Amino acid sequence: MAQMLIGAITAWGALFWCMCVCEATAGLQHVLSENAPVKQAPLLPKPQDRPSHQDLRPLEFDPLPLGSVRARGWLQDQLELMAAGLPGHEHDFYRIVKDNPWLGGDQDYSILNEAFPYWFNGLVPLAYLTEDERLKEQVLSTADYVLSHQQEDGWLGPETNLSTRNFWARYLMLTGFIQLADVEAGTDLQTRILDSIHRFINLMHSMLLDNYRGYVKHDGEVVDDQWGRSRAADIIMSLQWVYEHDPRDQKHKLLDCMYMFEAKGMNWTNWFTEGVYLKQDLDTVPDTITTAYFPFEHGVNAAQGLKAAAVLRRYIHDDRLLETSRRGVNWTFRYHGTPSGVIIADERLAGLSPVRGVELCTVVETMFSLNYLYQTLGDNSLADQCELAAYNALPVMTLPDWWAHQYVAQTNQPISHHLSKTPFFNVYEEGQRFGLEPDYPCCTVNHPQGYPKFVAAAFLRRGENSIAHALLGPMSVTTTTRSGTNVSIVCNTNYPFAHDLQYTTSATHPFTFLIRLPTWSTSTTIILNPSPHTGMQEIPLEPGTSHIHVTFTTDIRVDPRANDTVSIYHGALLYAIPITYNLTSQRVPGYETAPPNVLNHDLLPTSPWAYAIDPTTLRFRSMANGTEKLPNLLWTLGAPTSITATVCEIDWPMVDGYAANPPLKEDRRCVGKPFEIDLVPYGSAKLHMAELPVMRLGV
Ligand SMILES: *[C@@H]1O[C@H](CO)[C@@H](O)[C@H](O)[C@H]1NC(C)=O
Ligand SMILES: *[C@@H]1O[C@H](CO)[C@@H](O)[C@H](O)[C@H]1NC(C)=O
Ligand SMILES: *[C@@H]1O[C@H](CO)[C@@H](O)[C@H](O)[C@H]1NC(C)=O
Ligand SMILES: *[C@@H]1O[C@H](CO)[C@@H](O)[C@H](O)[C@H]1NC(C)=O
Ligand SMILES: *[C@@H]1O[C@H](CO)[C@@H](O)[C@H](O)[C@H]1NC(C)=O
Ligand SMILES: *[C@@H]1O[C@H](CO)[C@@H](O)[C@H](O)[C@H]1NC(C)=O
Ligand SMILES: *[C@@H]1O[C@H](CO)[C@@H](O)[C@H](O)[C@H]1NC(C)=O
Repeated sequence: MAQMLIGAITAWGALFWCMCVCEATAGLQHVLSENAPVKQAPLLPKPQDRPSHQDLRPLEFDPLPLGSVRARGWLQDQLELMAAGLPGHEHDFYRIVKDNPWLGGDQDYSILNEAFPYWFNGLVPLAYLTEDERLKEQVLSTADYVLSHQQEDGWLGPETNLSTRNFWARYLMLTGFIQLADVEAGTDLQTRILDSIHRFINLMHSMLLDNYRGYVKHDGEVVDDQWGRSRAADIIMSLQWVYEHDPRDQKHKLLDCMYMFEAKGMNWTNWFTEGVYLKQDLDTVPDTITTAYFPFEHGVNAAQGLKAAAVLRRYIHDDRLLETSRRGVNWTFRYHGTPSGVIIADERLAGLSPVRGVELCTVVETMFSLNYLYQTLGDNSLADQCELAAYNALPVMTLPDWWAHQYVAQTNQPISHHLSKTPFFNVYEEGQRFGLEPDYPCCTVNHPQGYPKFVAAAFLRRGENSIAHALLGPMSVTTTTRSGTNVSIVCNTNYPFAHDLQYTTSATHPFTFLIRLPTWSTSTTIILNPSPHTGMQEIPLEPGTSHIHVTFTTDIRVDPRANDTVSIYHGALLYAIPITYNLTSQRVPGYETAPPNVLNHDLLPTSPWAYAIDPTTLRFRSMANGTEKLPNLLWTLGAPTSITATVCEIDWPMVDGYAANPPLKEDRRCVGKPFEIDLVPYGSAKLHMAELPVMRLGV
């Protein structure tokens, strides 16, 4: 294990060494100059050159404090499985969490010291949404440790040596602290957190003014500054939260920090312009170019960078940045998107091949960026895309009991084991296995944020007196509108497995309830005048209790993919041919005494997988009537919906231990009689084929 980690860190070192020494070509000056040592003074706009608006640009929809929205039904089962599985046990046995330098220990996977902040950022919402006392206690005691070890000058975290101080891991710590302050509103803990954040921001301001110390690497410093500079939008979001919730006469200082993070941050606005953005399969682009642009091509950065322009626009007050966000989302999914709703990047963006990997960190960060973008832009398709990621890309990468996950998933993945040769850019042969920390530990500590943050963002506030259900699923909310109406809404549904949503609302005064109608919905039972932009259906409600029953209808959708293949959808679910498997498990070296479920696994196929499909034969089938209790464990074979299709087996080899790209159209021949097969929800099929070669099968 130790060797694997050292190997991983060394590979990264080599990559960045290469980034620094590669010659620049003329067109790359802009990007490369950002890597040059800082000599000039910080680029702070003078007060008179700043937009005169005192407020940040409003969002279309405002998020509610953590704890307002709760999961129900199958989604609550998932949160409880997470709490009972690996996410809820990392603090018990996982050295890079429990013995992390942030908690006085000496275990982490890199000098970025990010493992504990990643864990904290996901565990705060998981602990409070499950109301799991054991997890709350872990969150509260670790928060207490970090707060009581804040350094004299305000620094948060273990780095006493100034040359190793780097803001990046603080982004995650602040996001975690802000969620905790939100859910602990009105308590001493909230005050303590906010006091601490203000002390830290004072220090941050003085460090940034001192030639961006802690942000841009100075001579003799060891910490790589790329991560913080690529992900600046995440700290700016936290600064904006403080600006709006508890500014304490520090608004100018907070804005200064936003400007300074932006000034030396990777420029996503520039990246998302024609002629700069790389639309190609990156393997076909010369190294000199891909190396220079690597910060923008790194999958997790790319997921986080989706929201950058929308975050900046709030204080720059330039609405053109909304178009930049839309373009960024469109290009990212069009040129590097998976059918499962996220980004193909096995560390670096790839093209569109179903062989290439999707990283679990990228999945949860894409979900988070998309839910923020829906709040900011209100485009219906962004919420659809967020649901697609949450209901397909995320569940496929964990075993149903949440004890093991993959580092990368492949869209066509009929086997999960140690590959004989990696097809990925910078992911090892272990990367598509399920286990404790396949390939690299970052996803082990980062993946717990996925469903908890999705649930927390599902209901939103709008205007003075509206509450909106934006991300659909079984959930409830208890909150007030901005004008003070107390509202509680319960949504009972098996969505996305059924398209029936039964709401019971109660309110102290009249208010407007908004329900988002997905773009794929062809009709609903309550057709009034949904907004074509946000997809929101307005329902004015009287005080007291109301019952609303919403039913969507939809059709099977067939999306063309590369090389005459298709992906098949119904509602928010992608469907795949499932491959049955024989699962064998081993203890994880170095973790022999960990809980017995901490295992690495091989999933070897026990059914054929090499099929071509005739998309004219698809028929949707549902065993769900919309209200019955779904099985728990849910994301496993036996899910309640399927799509029947006619397929035949074709010649399609494995190379190096994985399924090669599908054979080209002219090379497809049935090697057996066509027959009917059931496609199942992608997330339930750990071994799956979801980008299927097309043939006419003459039926
Ligand atoms: C700080 O860290 C750097 C890099 O590891 C090291 O060279 C330097 O000696 C350290 N300084 C102190 C005072 O520990
Ligand atoms: C980022 O790039 C855009 C487009 O090239 C440019 O207008 C903007 O000034 C740049 N921002 C910074 C901080 O350099
Ligand atoms: C991107 O925009 C183009 C042109 O409007 C549209 O045809 C395409 O479907 C969009 N793609 C994605 C992935 O949003
Ligand atoms: C399409 O097929 C060609 C030939 O096999 C392959 O090189 C290419 O990577 C494929 N494209 C995608 C996007 O899968
Ligand atoms: C609304 O809720 C708050 C907090 O729960 C409560 O104090 C208040 O009395 C409620 N208002 C009405 C009109 O019921
Ligand atoms: C599953 O794999 C194990 C180990 O390779 C093997 O011993 C066992 O026979 C296999 N079981 C089936 C049903 O294929
Ligand atoms: C739905 O299914 C459940 C369990 O199978 C059953 O108890 C219930 O009566 C069904 N409801 C309707 C409306 O068919």
